[in-house]
Amino acid sequence: MATLSNTNDSTRGRLIGHFDNVPLERHASAWSELWDQGESDLWDRGCPSPSLVDLLEHQPDVLNPIAPSGRRKRALVPGCGRGYDVILLALHGFDAYGLEISPTAVATGKEYAISELKEPSLCYFSTPSEAKREEYRKNRGEPRFLQGNFFESDWDGEVVSQSDHGSKFDLVYDYTVGPLYSEV
Ligand SMILES: C[S@@+](CC[C@H](N)C(=O)[O-])C[C@H]1O[C@@H](n2cnc3c(N)ncnc32)[C@H](O)[C@@H]1O
Repeated sequence: MATLSNTNDSTRGRLIGHFDNVPLERHASAWSELWDQGESDLWDRGCPSPSLVDLLEHQPDVLNPIAPSGRRKRALVPGCGRGYDVILLALHGFDAYGLEISPTAVATGKEYAISELKEPSLCYFSTPSEAKREEYRKNRGEPRFLQGNFFESDWDGEVVSQSDHGSKFDLVYDYTVGPLYSEV
C-alpha cells in the first residue's frame, strides 16, 4: 500500500528514508524531528482533503455538525499537521480538535488557524456562492489544537465529554497519520 500519493518520487523517498531502520516505537519522535527541522513540506499539500470538502457541502446529512439536541458536534483530526482539515471542519460547523505529536506542529497550526479564519482561502469551500461561504463562516465552530500521541491515552484530558453517549468526539477524521507503509 502506498501513502502520500500526491508527493513525487524523490520527496516520498526522502520521507520514507527518514523512517528507515527507525523502530515503530520511535516513529512519533521521528515525526517531531521533521517538524523541528522545517521539513513539513515533505507531505504538506497546502489545502484540506478535497473529498471531505465535497462530503461536507454536498452530503450535509452524512456529516451534520449539529446534534439532534442542538449542541455543536466535536470532530477530532489525529496527526492534523498544519491543520487544514481542522479548519475545514470548523468552517463547516464542528468544534474541531487537531491532535499532533509535535509541539512545533501545534504552534504552527494555531498560528495558521488565526490567519486563515480571518479570510478563509477558497480551497475550504466547493460552493461558487459567496453568500453561502459567508453563511458557513458565520456559523462556524472553533478549531483547537492538542499535543500528544494518538496511540496513547493521555492527550484528551482537557476535553470534557458533552454527549449523551459519553464520547468526547462525534467524528474522527484521519488523513495519513501514523506509520508510513511501503509498497507490499
Ligand atoms: C503525513 S503527515 C499528515 C498531516 C496532515 N494530516 C495533512 O494532511 O497535512 C502526518 C502527521 O501526523 C503526525 N503524527 C504522526 N504520528 C502521530 C501520532 N502518533 N500522534 C499524533 N500525531 C502524529 C506527524 O507529526 C505529522 O504532522
